Amino acid sequence: MMIHHSKVLVTGGAGFIGSNLVETLLNQDNKVVCLDNFSTGKRENVQAFLSHPNFRLIEGDIRNLDTCREAVKSVEHVLHQAALGSVPRSINDPITSNEVNVSGFLNMLVACRDEGVKRMVYAASSSTYGDHPDLPKVEDKIGKPLSPYAITKYVNELYAEVFSKLYKIETIGLRYFNVFGQRQDPFGAYAAVIPKFVKALIEKNPPVINGDGTHSRDFTYIQNVVQVNQLAALATHPEAPNTVYNVAFGDNTSLNELMAILKELLSSYDADIAHVEAIYGPERAGDVKHSLASVDKAKKLLGYQPSHDIRRGLEEAVDWYWHNLR
Ligand SMILES: NC(=O)c1ccc[n+]([C@@H]2O[C@H](COP(=O)([O-])OP(=O)(O)OC[C@H]3O[C@@H](n4cnc5c(N)ncnc54)[C@H](O)[C@@H]3O)[C@@H](O)[C@H]2O)c1
Repeated sequence: MMIHHSKVLVTGGAGFIGSNLVETLLNQDNKVVCLDNFSTGKRENVQAFLSHPNFRLIEGDIRNLDTCREAVKSVEHVLHQAALGSVPRSINDPITSNEVNVSGFLNMLVACRDEGVKRMVYAASSSTYGDHPDLPKVEDKIGKPLSPYAITKYVNELYAEVFSKLYKIETIGLRYFNVFGQRQDPFGAYAAVIPKFVKALIEKNPPVINGDGTHSRDFTYIQNVVQVNQLAALATHPEAPNTVYNVAFGDNTSLNELMAILKELLSSYDADIAHVEAIYGPERAGDVKHSLASVDKAKKLLGYQPSHDIRRGLEEAVDWYWHNLR
């Protein structure tokens, strides 16, 4: 199921996940509105879309309700991605993360409600599982949050549930698990692990692994996320809306295994990369040791069929970084 010939709002459309959604939606003959304030998103991520007749950029902030109202006007689907990501960022600056991720989210819900948007699909997060020990993670068993970021993402779910009960609006939360792929930012203190490792390896600098490398994650390729956003927007199963879904591949990979795959893939571009050795640093505050999702609920109610396992995703991502990072 793909979104065709519709008008879609992607908030955070200049970011990693948002820009991949925009690209796919434009390729499928949709009109796309992108709302972004370029705080972590990049102009180069939307540069190629600016000349597209079906693309409209609203440079603005979700902390402004009027801006949200303008963005949702006459759209059929809303894919709300704008937020300040990163656990460490939220630990360093909890106030701004809360303003954007909670107040901005509430503005989007209110704007959608008032403009008669039928359903708001939004980016939730695996961080909501917090300290719950069970693996794989199943949607209805969550623990206590381990960071301000996790709190903000959990509050999103609570607001969404209340709005769907009180007002005529459907919501679907997508709990993303460590998404990776083209255009994910490798720069800065808050970069995600895969682009950070890829950049270090391409530059032949030793990548730094926090902890002993046995931490594991359910790394999820961007095309799986693009697929599930569309499925969520279009889902017709009566139990599909007003709930949350894990979005992952459904397998976990340790950081040591990840490093080995990246070295193998990148050494086919430059054989010397095989000799770059990782170094080990301290564990990061707020990090859980293991993460692994059950994706049964998304398969059952949304028809999700992940197209890329980690290796296939990394092959595509590494090729993109090789041609765009150097
Ligand atoms: N990447 C992951 O692994 C992951 C995992 C779980 C959840 N998420 C969630 O997915 C969404 C997208 O994440 P991403 O990895 O693409 O991050 P990103 O930083 O690349 O994209 C976020 C976008 O939102 C924009 N934005 C931030 N604050 C804004 C504001 N106040 N007003 C308007 N726009 C604003 C940024 O400029 C950026 O373009 C976020 O909600 C994030 O919390 C991501």
